[in-house]
Amino acid sequence: MEQVHAVVLAAGKGKRMRSDLPKVLHPVCGQPLIFYVLDALHHAGISSSIVVVGHGADRVREAVGAQARYVEQAEPRGTGHAVLMALPHLPDDGNPVLVLYGDTPLLTAETIHALTALHRTSGSAATLLSARVPDPSGYGRVIRDGDGRVRKIVEEADCSSEERQVMEINAGTYMFRQQALREALRALTPGNAQGEYYLTDTIGWLLGREQQVSALVASAEETVGVNSRQELAAAESLMRRRLLDRLMEGGVTIIDPVTTYVHAGVQVGPDTVIHPQSYLEGATAVGARCTIGPQARLVDATVGDGVTIVASSVERGAVGEGSTVGPYSRLRPGTRVGRFVEIGNFAELKNAEVGDHTKVHHMSYLGDVTVGARVNIGAGTVTCNYDGTRKHHTDIEDEAFIGSDTMLIAPIRIGKGAVTGAGSVVNKDVPPGGVAVGVPARVIRYVTAERRR
Ligand code: UD1
Ligand code: CA
Repeated sequence: MEQVHAVVLAAGKGKRMRSDLPKVLHPVCGQPLIFYVLDALHHAGISSSIVVVGHGADRVREAVGAQARYVEQAEPRGTGHAVLMALPHLPDDGNPVLVLYGDTPLLTAETIHALTALHRTSGSAATLLSARVPDPSGYGRVIRDGDGRVRKIVEEADCSSEERQVMEINAGTYMFRQQALREALRALTPGNAQGEYYLTDTIGWLLGREQQVSALVASAEETVGVNSRQELAAAESLMRRRLLDRLMEGGVTIIDPVTTYVHAGVQVGPDTVIHPQSYLEGATAVGARCTIGPQARLVDATVGDGVTIVASSVERGAVGEGSTVGPYSRLRPGTRVGRFVEIGNFAELKNAEVGDHTKVHHMSYLGDVTVGARVNIGAGTVTCNYDGTRKHHTDIEDEAFIGSDTMLIAPIRIGKGAVTGAGSVVNKDVPPGGVAVGVPARVIRYVTAERRR
């Protein structure tokens, strides 16, 4: 198969966004707009892409990284000018050129496929993507003749009142025969008083040279372009619905898609139920048969099978199979919870390793801590990990029983099977099996064999 060269335009300022951030970097479902365009190209099997950057070039380059090559357009002199900047960097090999805009995140790989296929079979000089939309305002209109053949694209500002009524819009995605594109761009003249060169004018120019132009009509959803915050919100909601649909197709129950928020790339296993007002963000992966929410927020979280997380947040952490979290708990970065663990009401964990079958209930703070298996952390337990200057570590070994309201002054180690009394302030290590009580705590005896089971 012939190779397709893709050119993605991302040099515009995005004035109507009124933002310091380059437009194509505004996120939709957790990823910058341009990410989706490049992702669609990738899935369409197109590996050779040039991104035209200009406004905020460094930031765009940094965000997109090495998956594309870059060409700079020093001044935003229009979409035609932007493609012209890319031309010298394309191998002059006669392979077709696919031009896309970095602000149309909903375009799919399937449609790119269909466009390239139509271009190939039609043998046209250019094949453009269009859509019939309920509200065409802001878009260029695709003007056809009485026989339905494309005649030209007219930008809204240049439309006659009749042309303005046309509901078929230019999506900003085109396949060109390379030679035809080179010739048409060379011939381009400014399309408006600001001296901008419109890529869209190449269509009329080619048709005027008796060259054939085809059009593929896509769905209105796929062609949504983002120029304003309102359109950003519209794209977000369409993308979110698409991501939720994908999860549902994979066997996930989503009680209320309207109040469930997911980022691109989030994975959820089958028969997991996501309850309302839940947020699955970043590189979150949730196993099968989980109950997530209501009101759960997972950010870069790894969650095993059969986990329940209610009204709690997990950020950059992991929760193992069969464990329950919440309601009302906060797992901060660096927390790794084992299997069949119970993290109860109002617990806060940070940088905490928690062993299997351990219970942490009722208003505890565990920070910078390693907790073994089958440990019980009593209500109100606090690891006093910060001395005002430095953070210190706490070790709680397997089967320890930490009494309610114990203060553990780190650095400290509570031995295997040891017990602390309610209200104790423990500032010295407790040996395995030791029972420490009081303020400051003293070991008063050792647990008997039956207590240790
Ligand atoms: C453009 C089309 C319009 C189409 C719409 C689809 C033109 C002249 N108009 O209008 O027909 O209906 O997209 O969404 O092409 N860019 C550059 N350099 C520039 C100018 C723009 O790289 O000098 C980039 C922008 O960053 C953006 C893309 O090209 O990603 C499109 O530019 P934009 O200004 O958003 O064009 P629209 O007015 O939306
Ligand atoms: Ca646009």
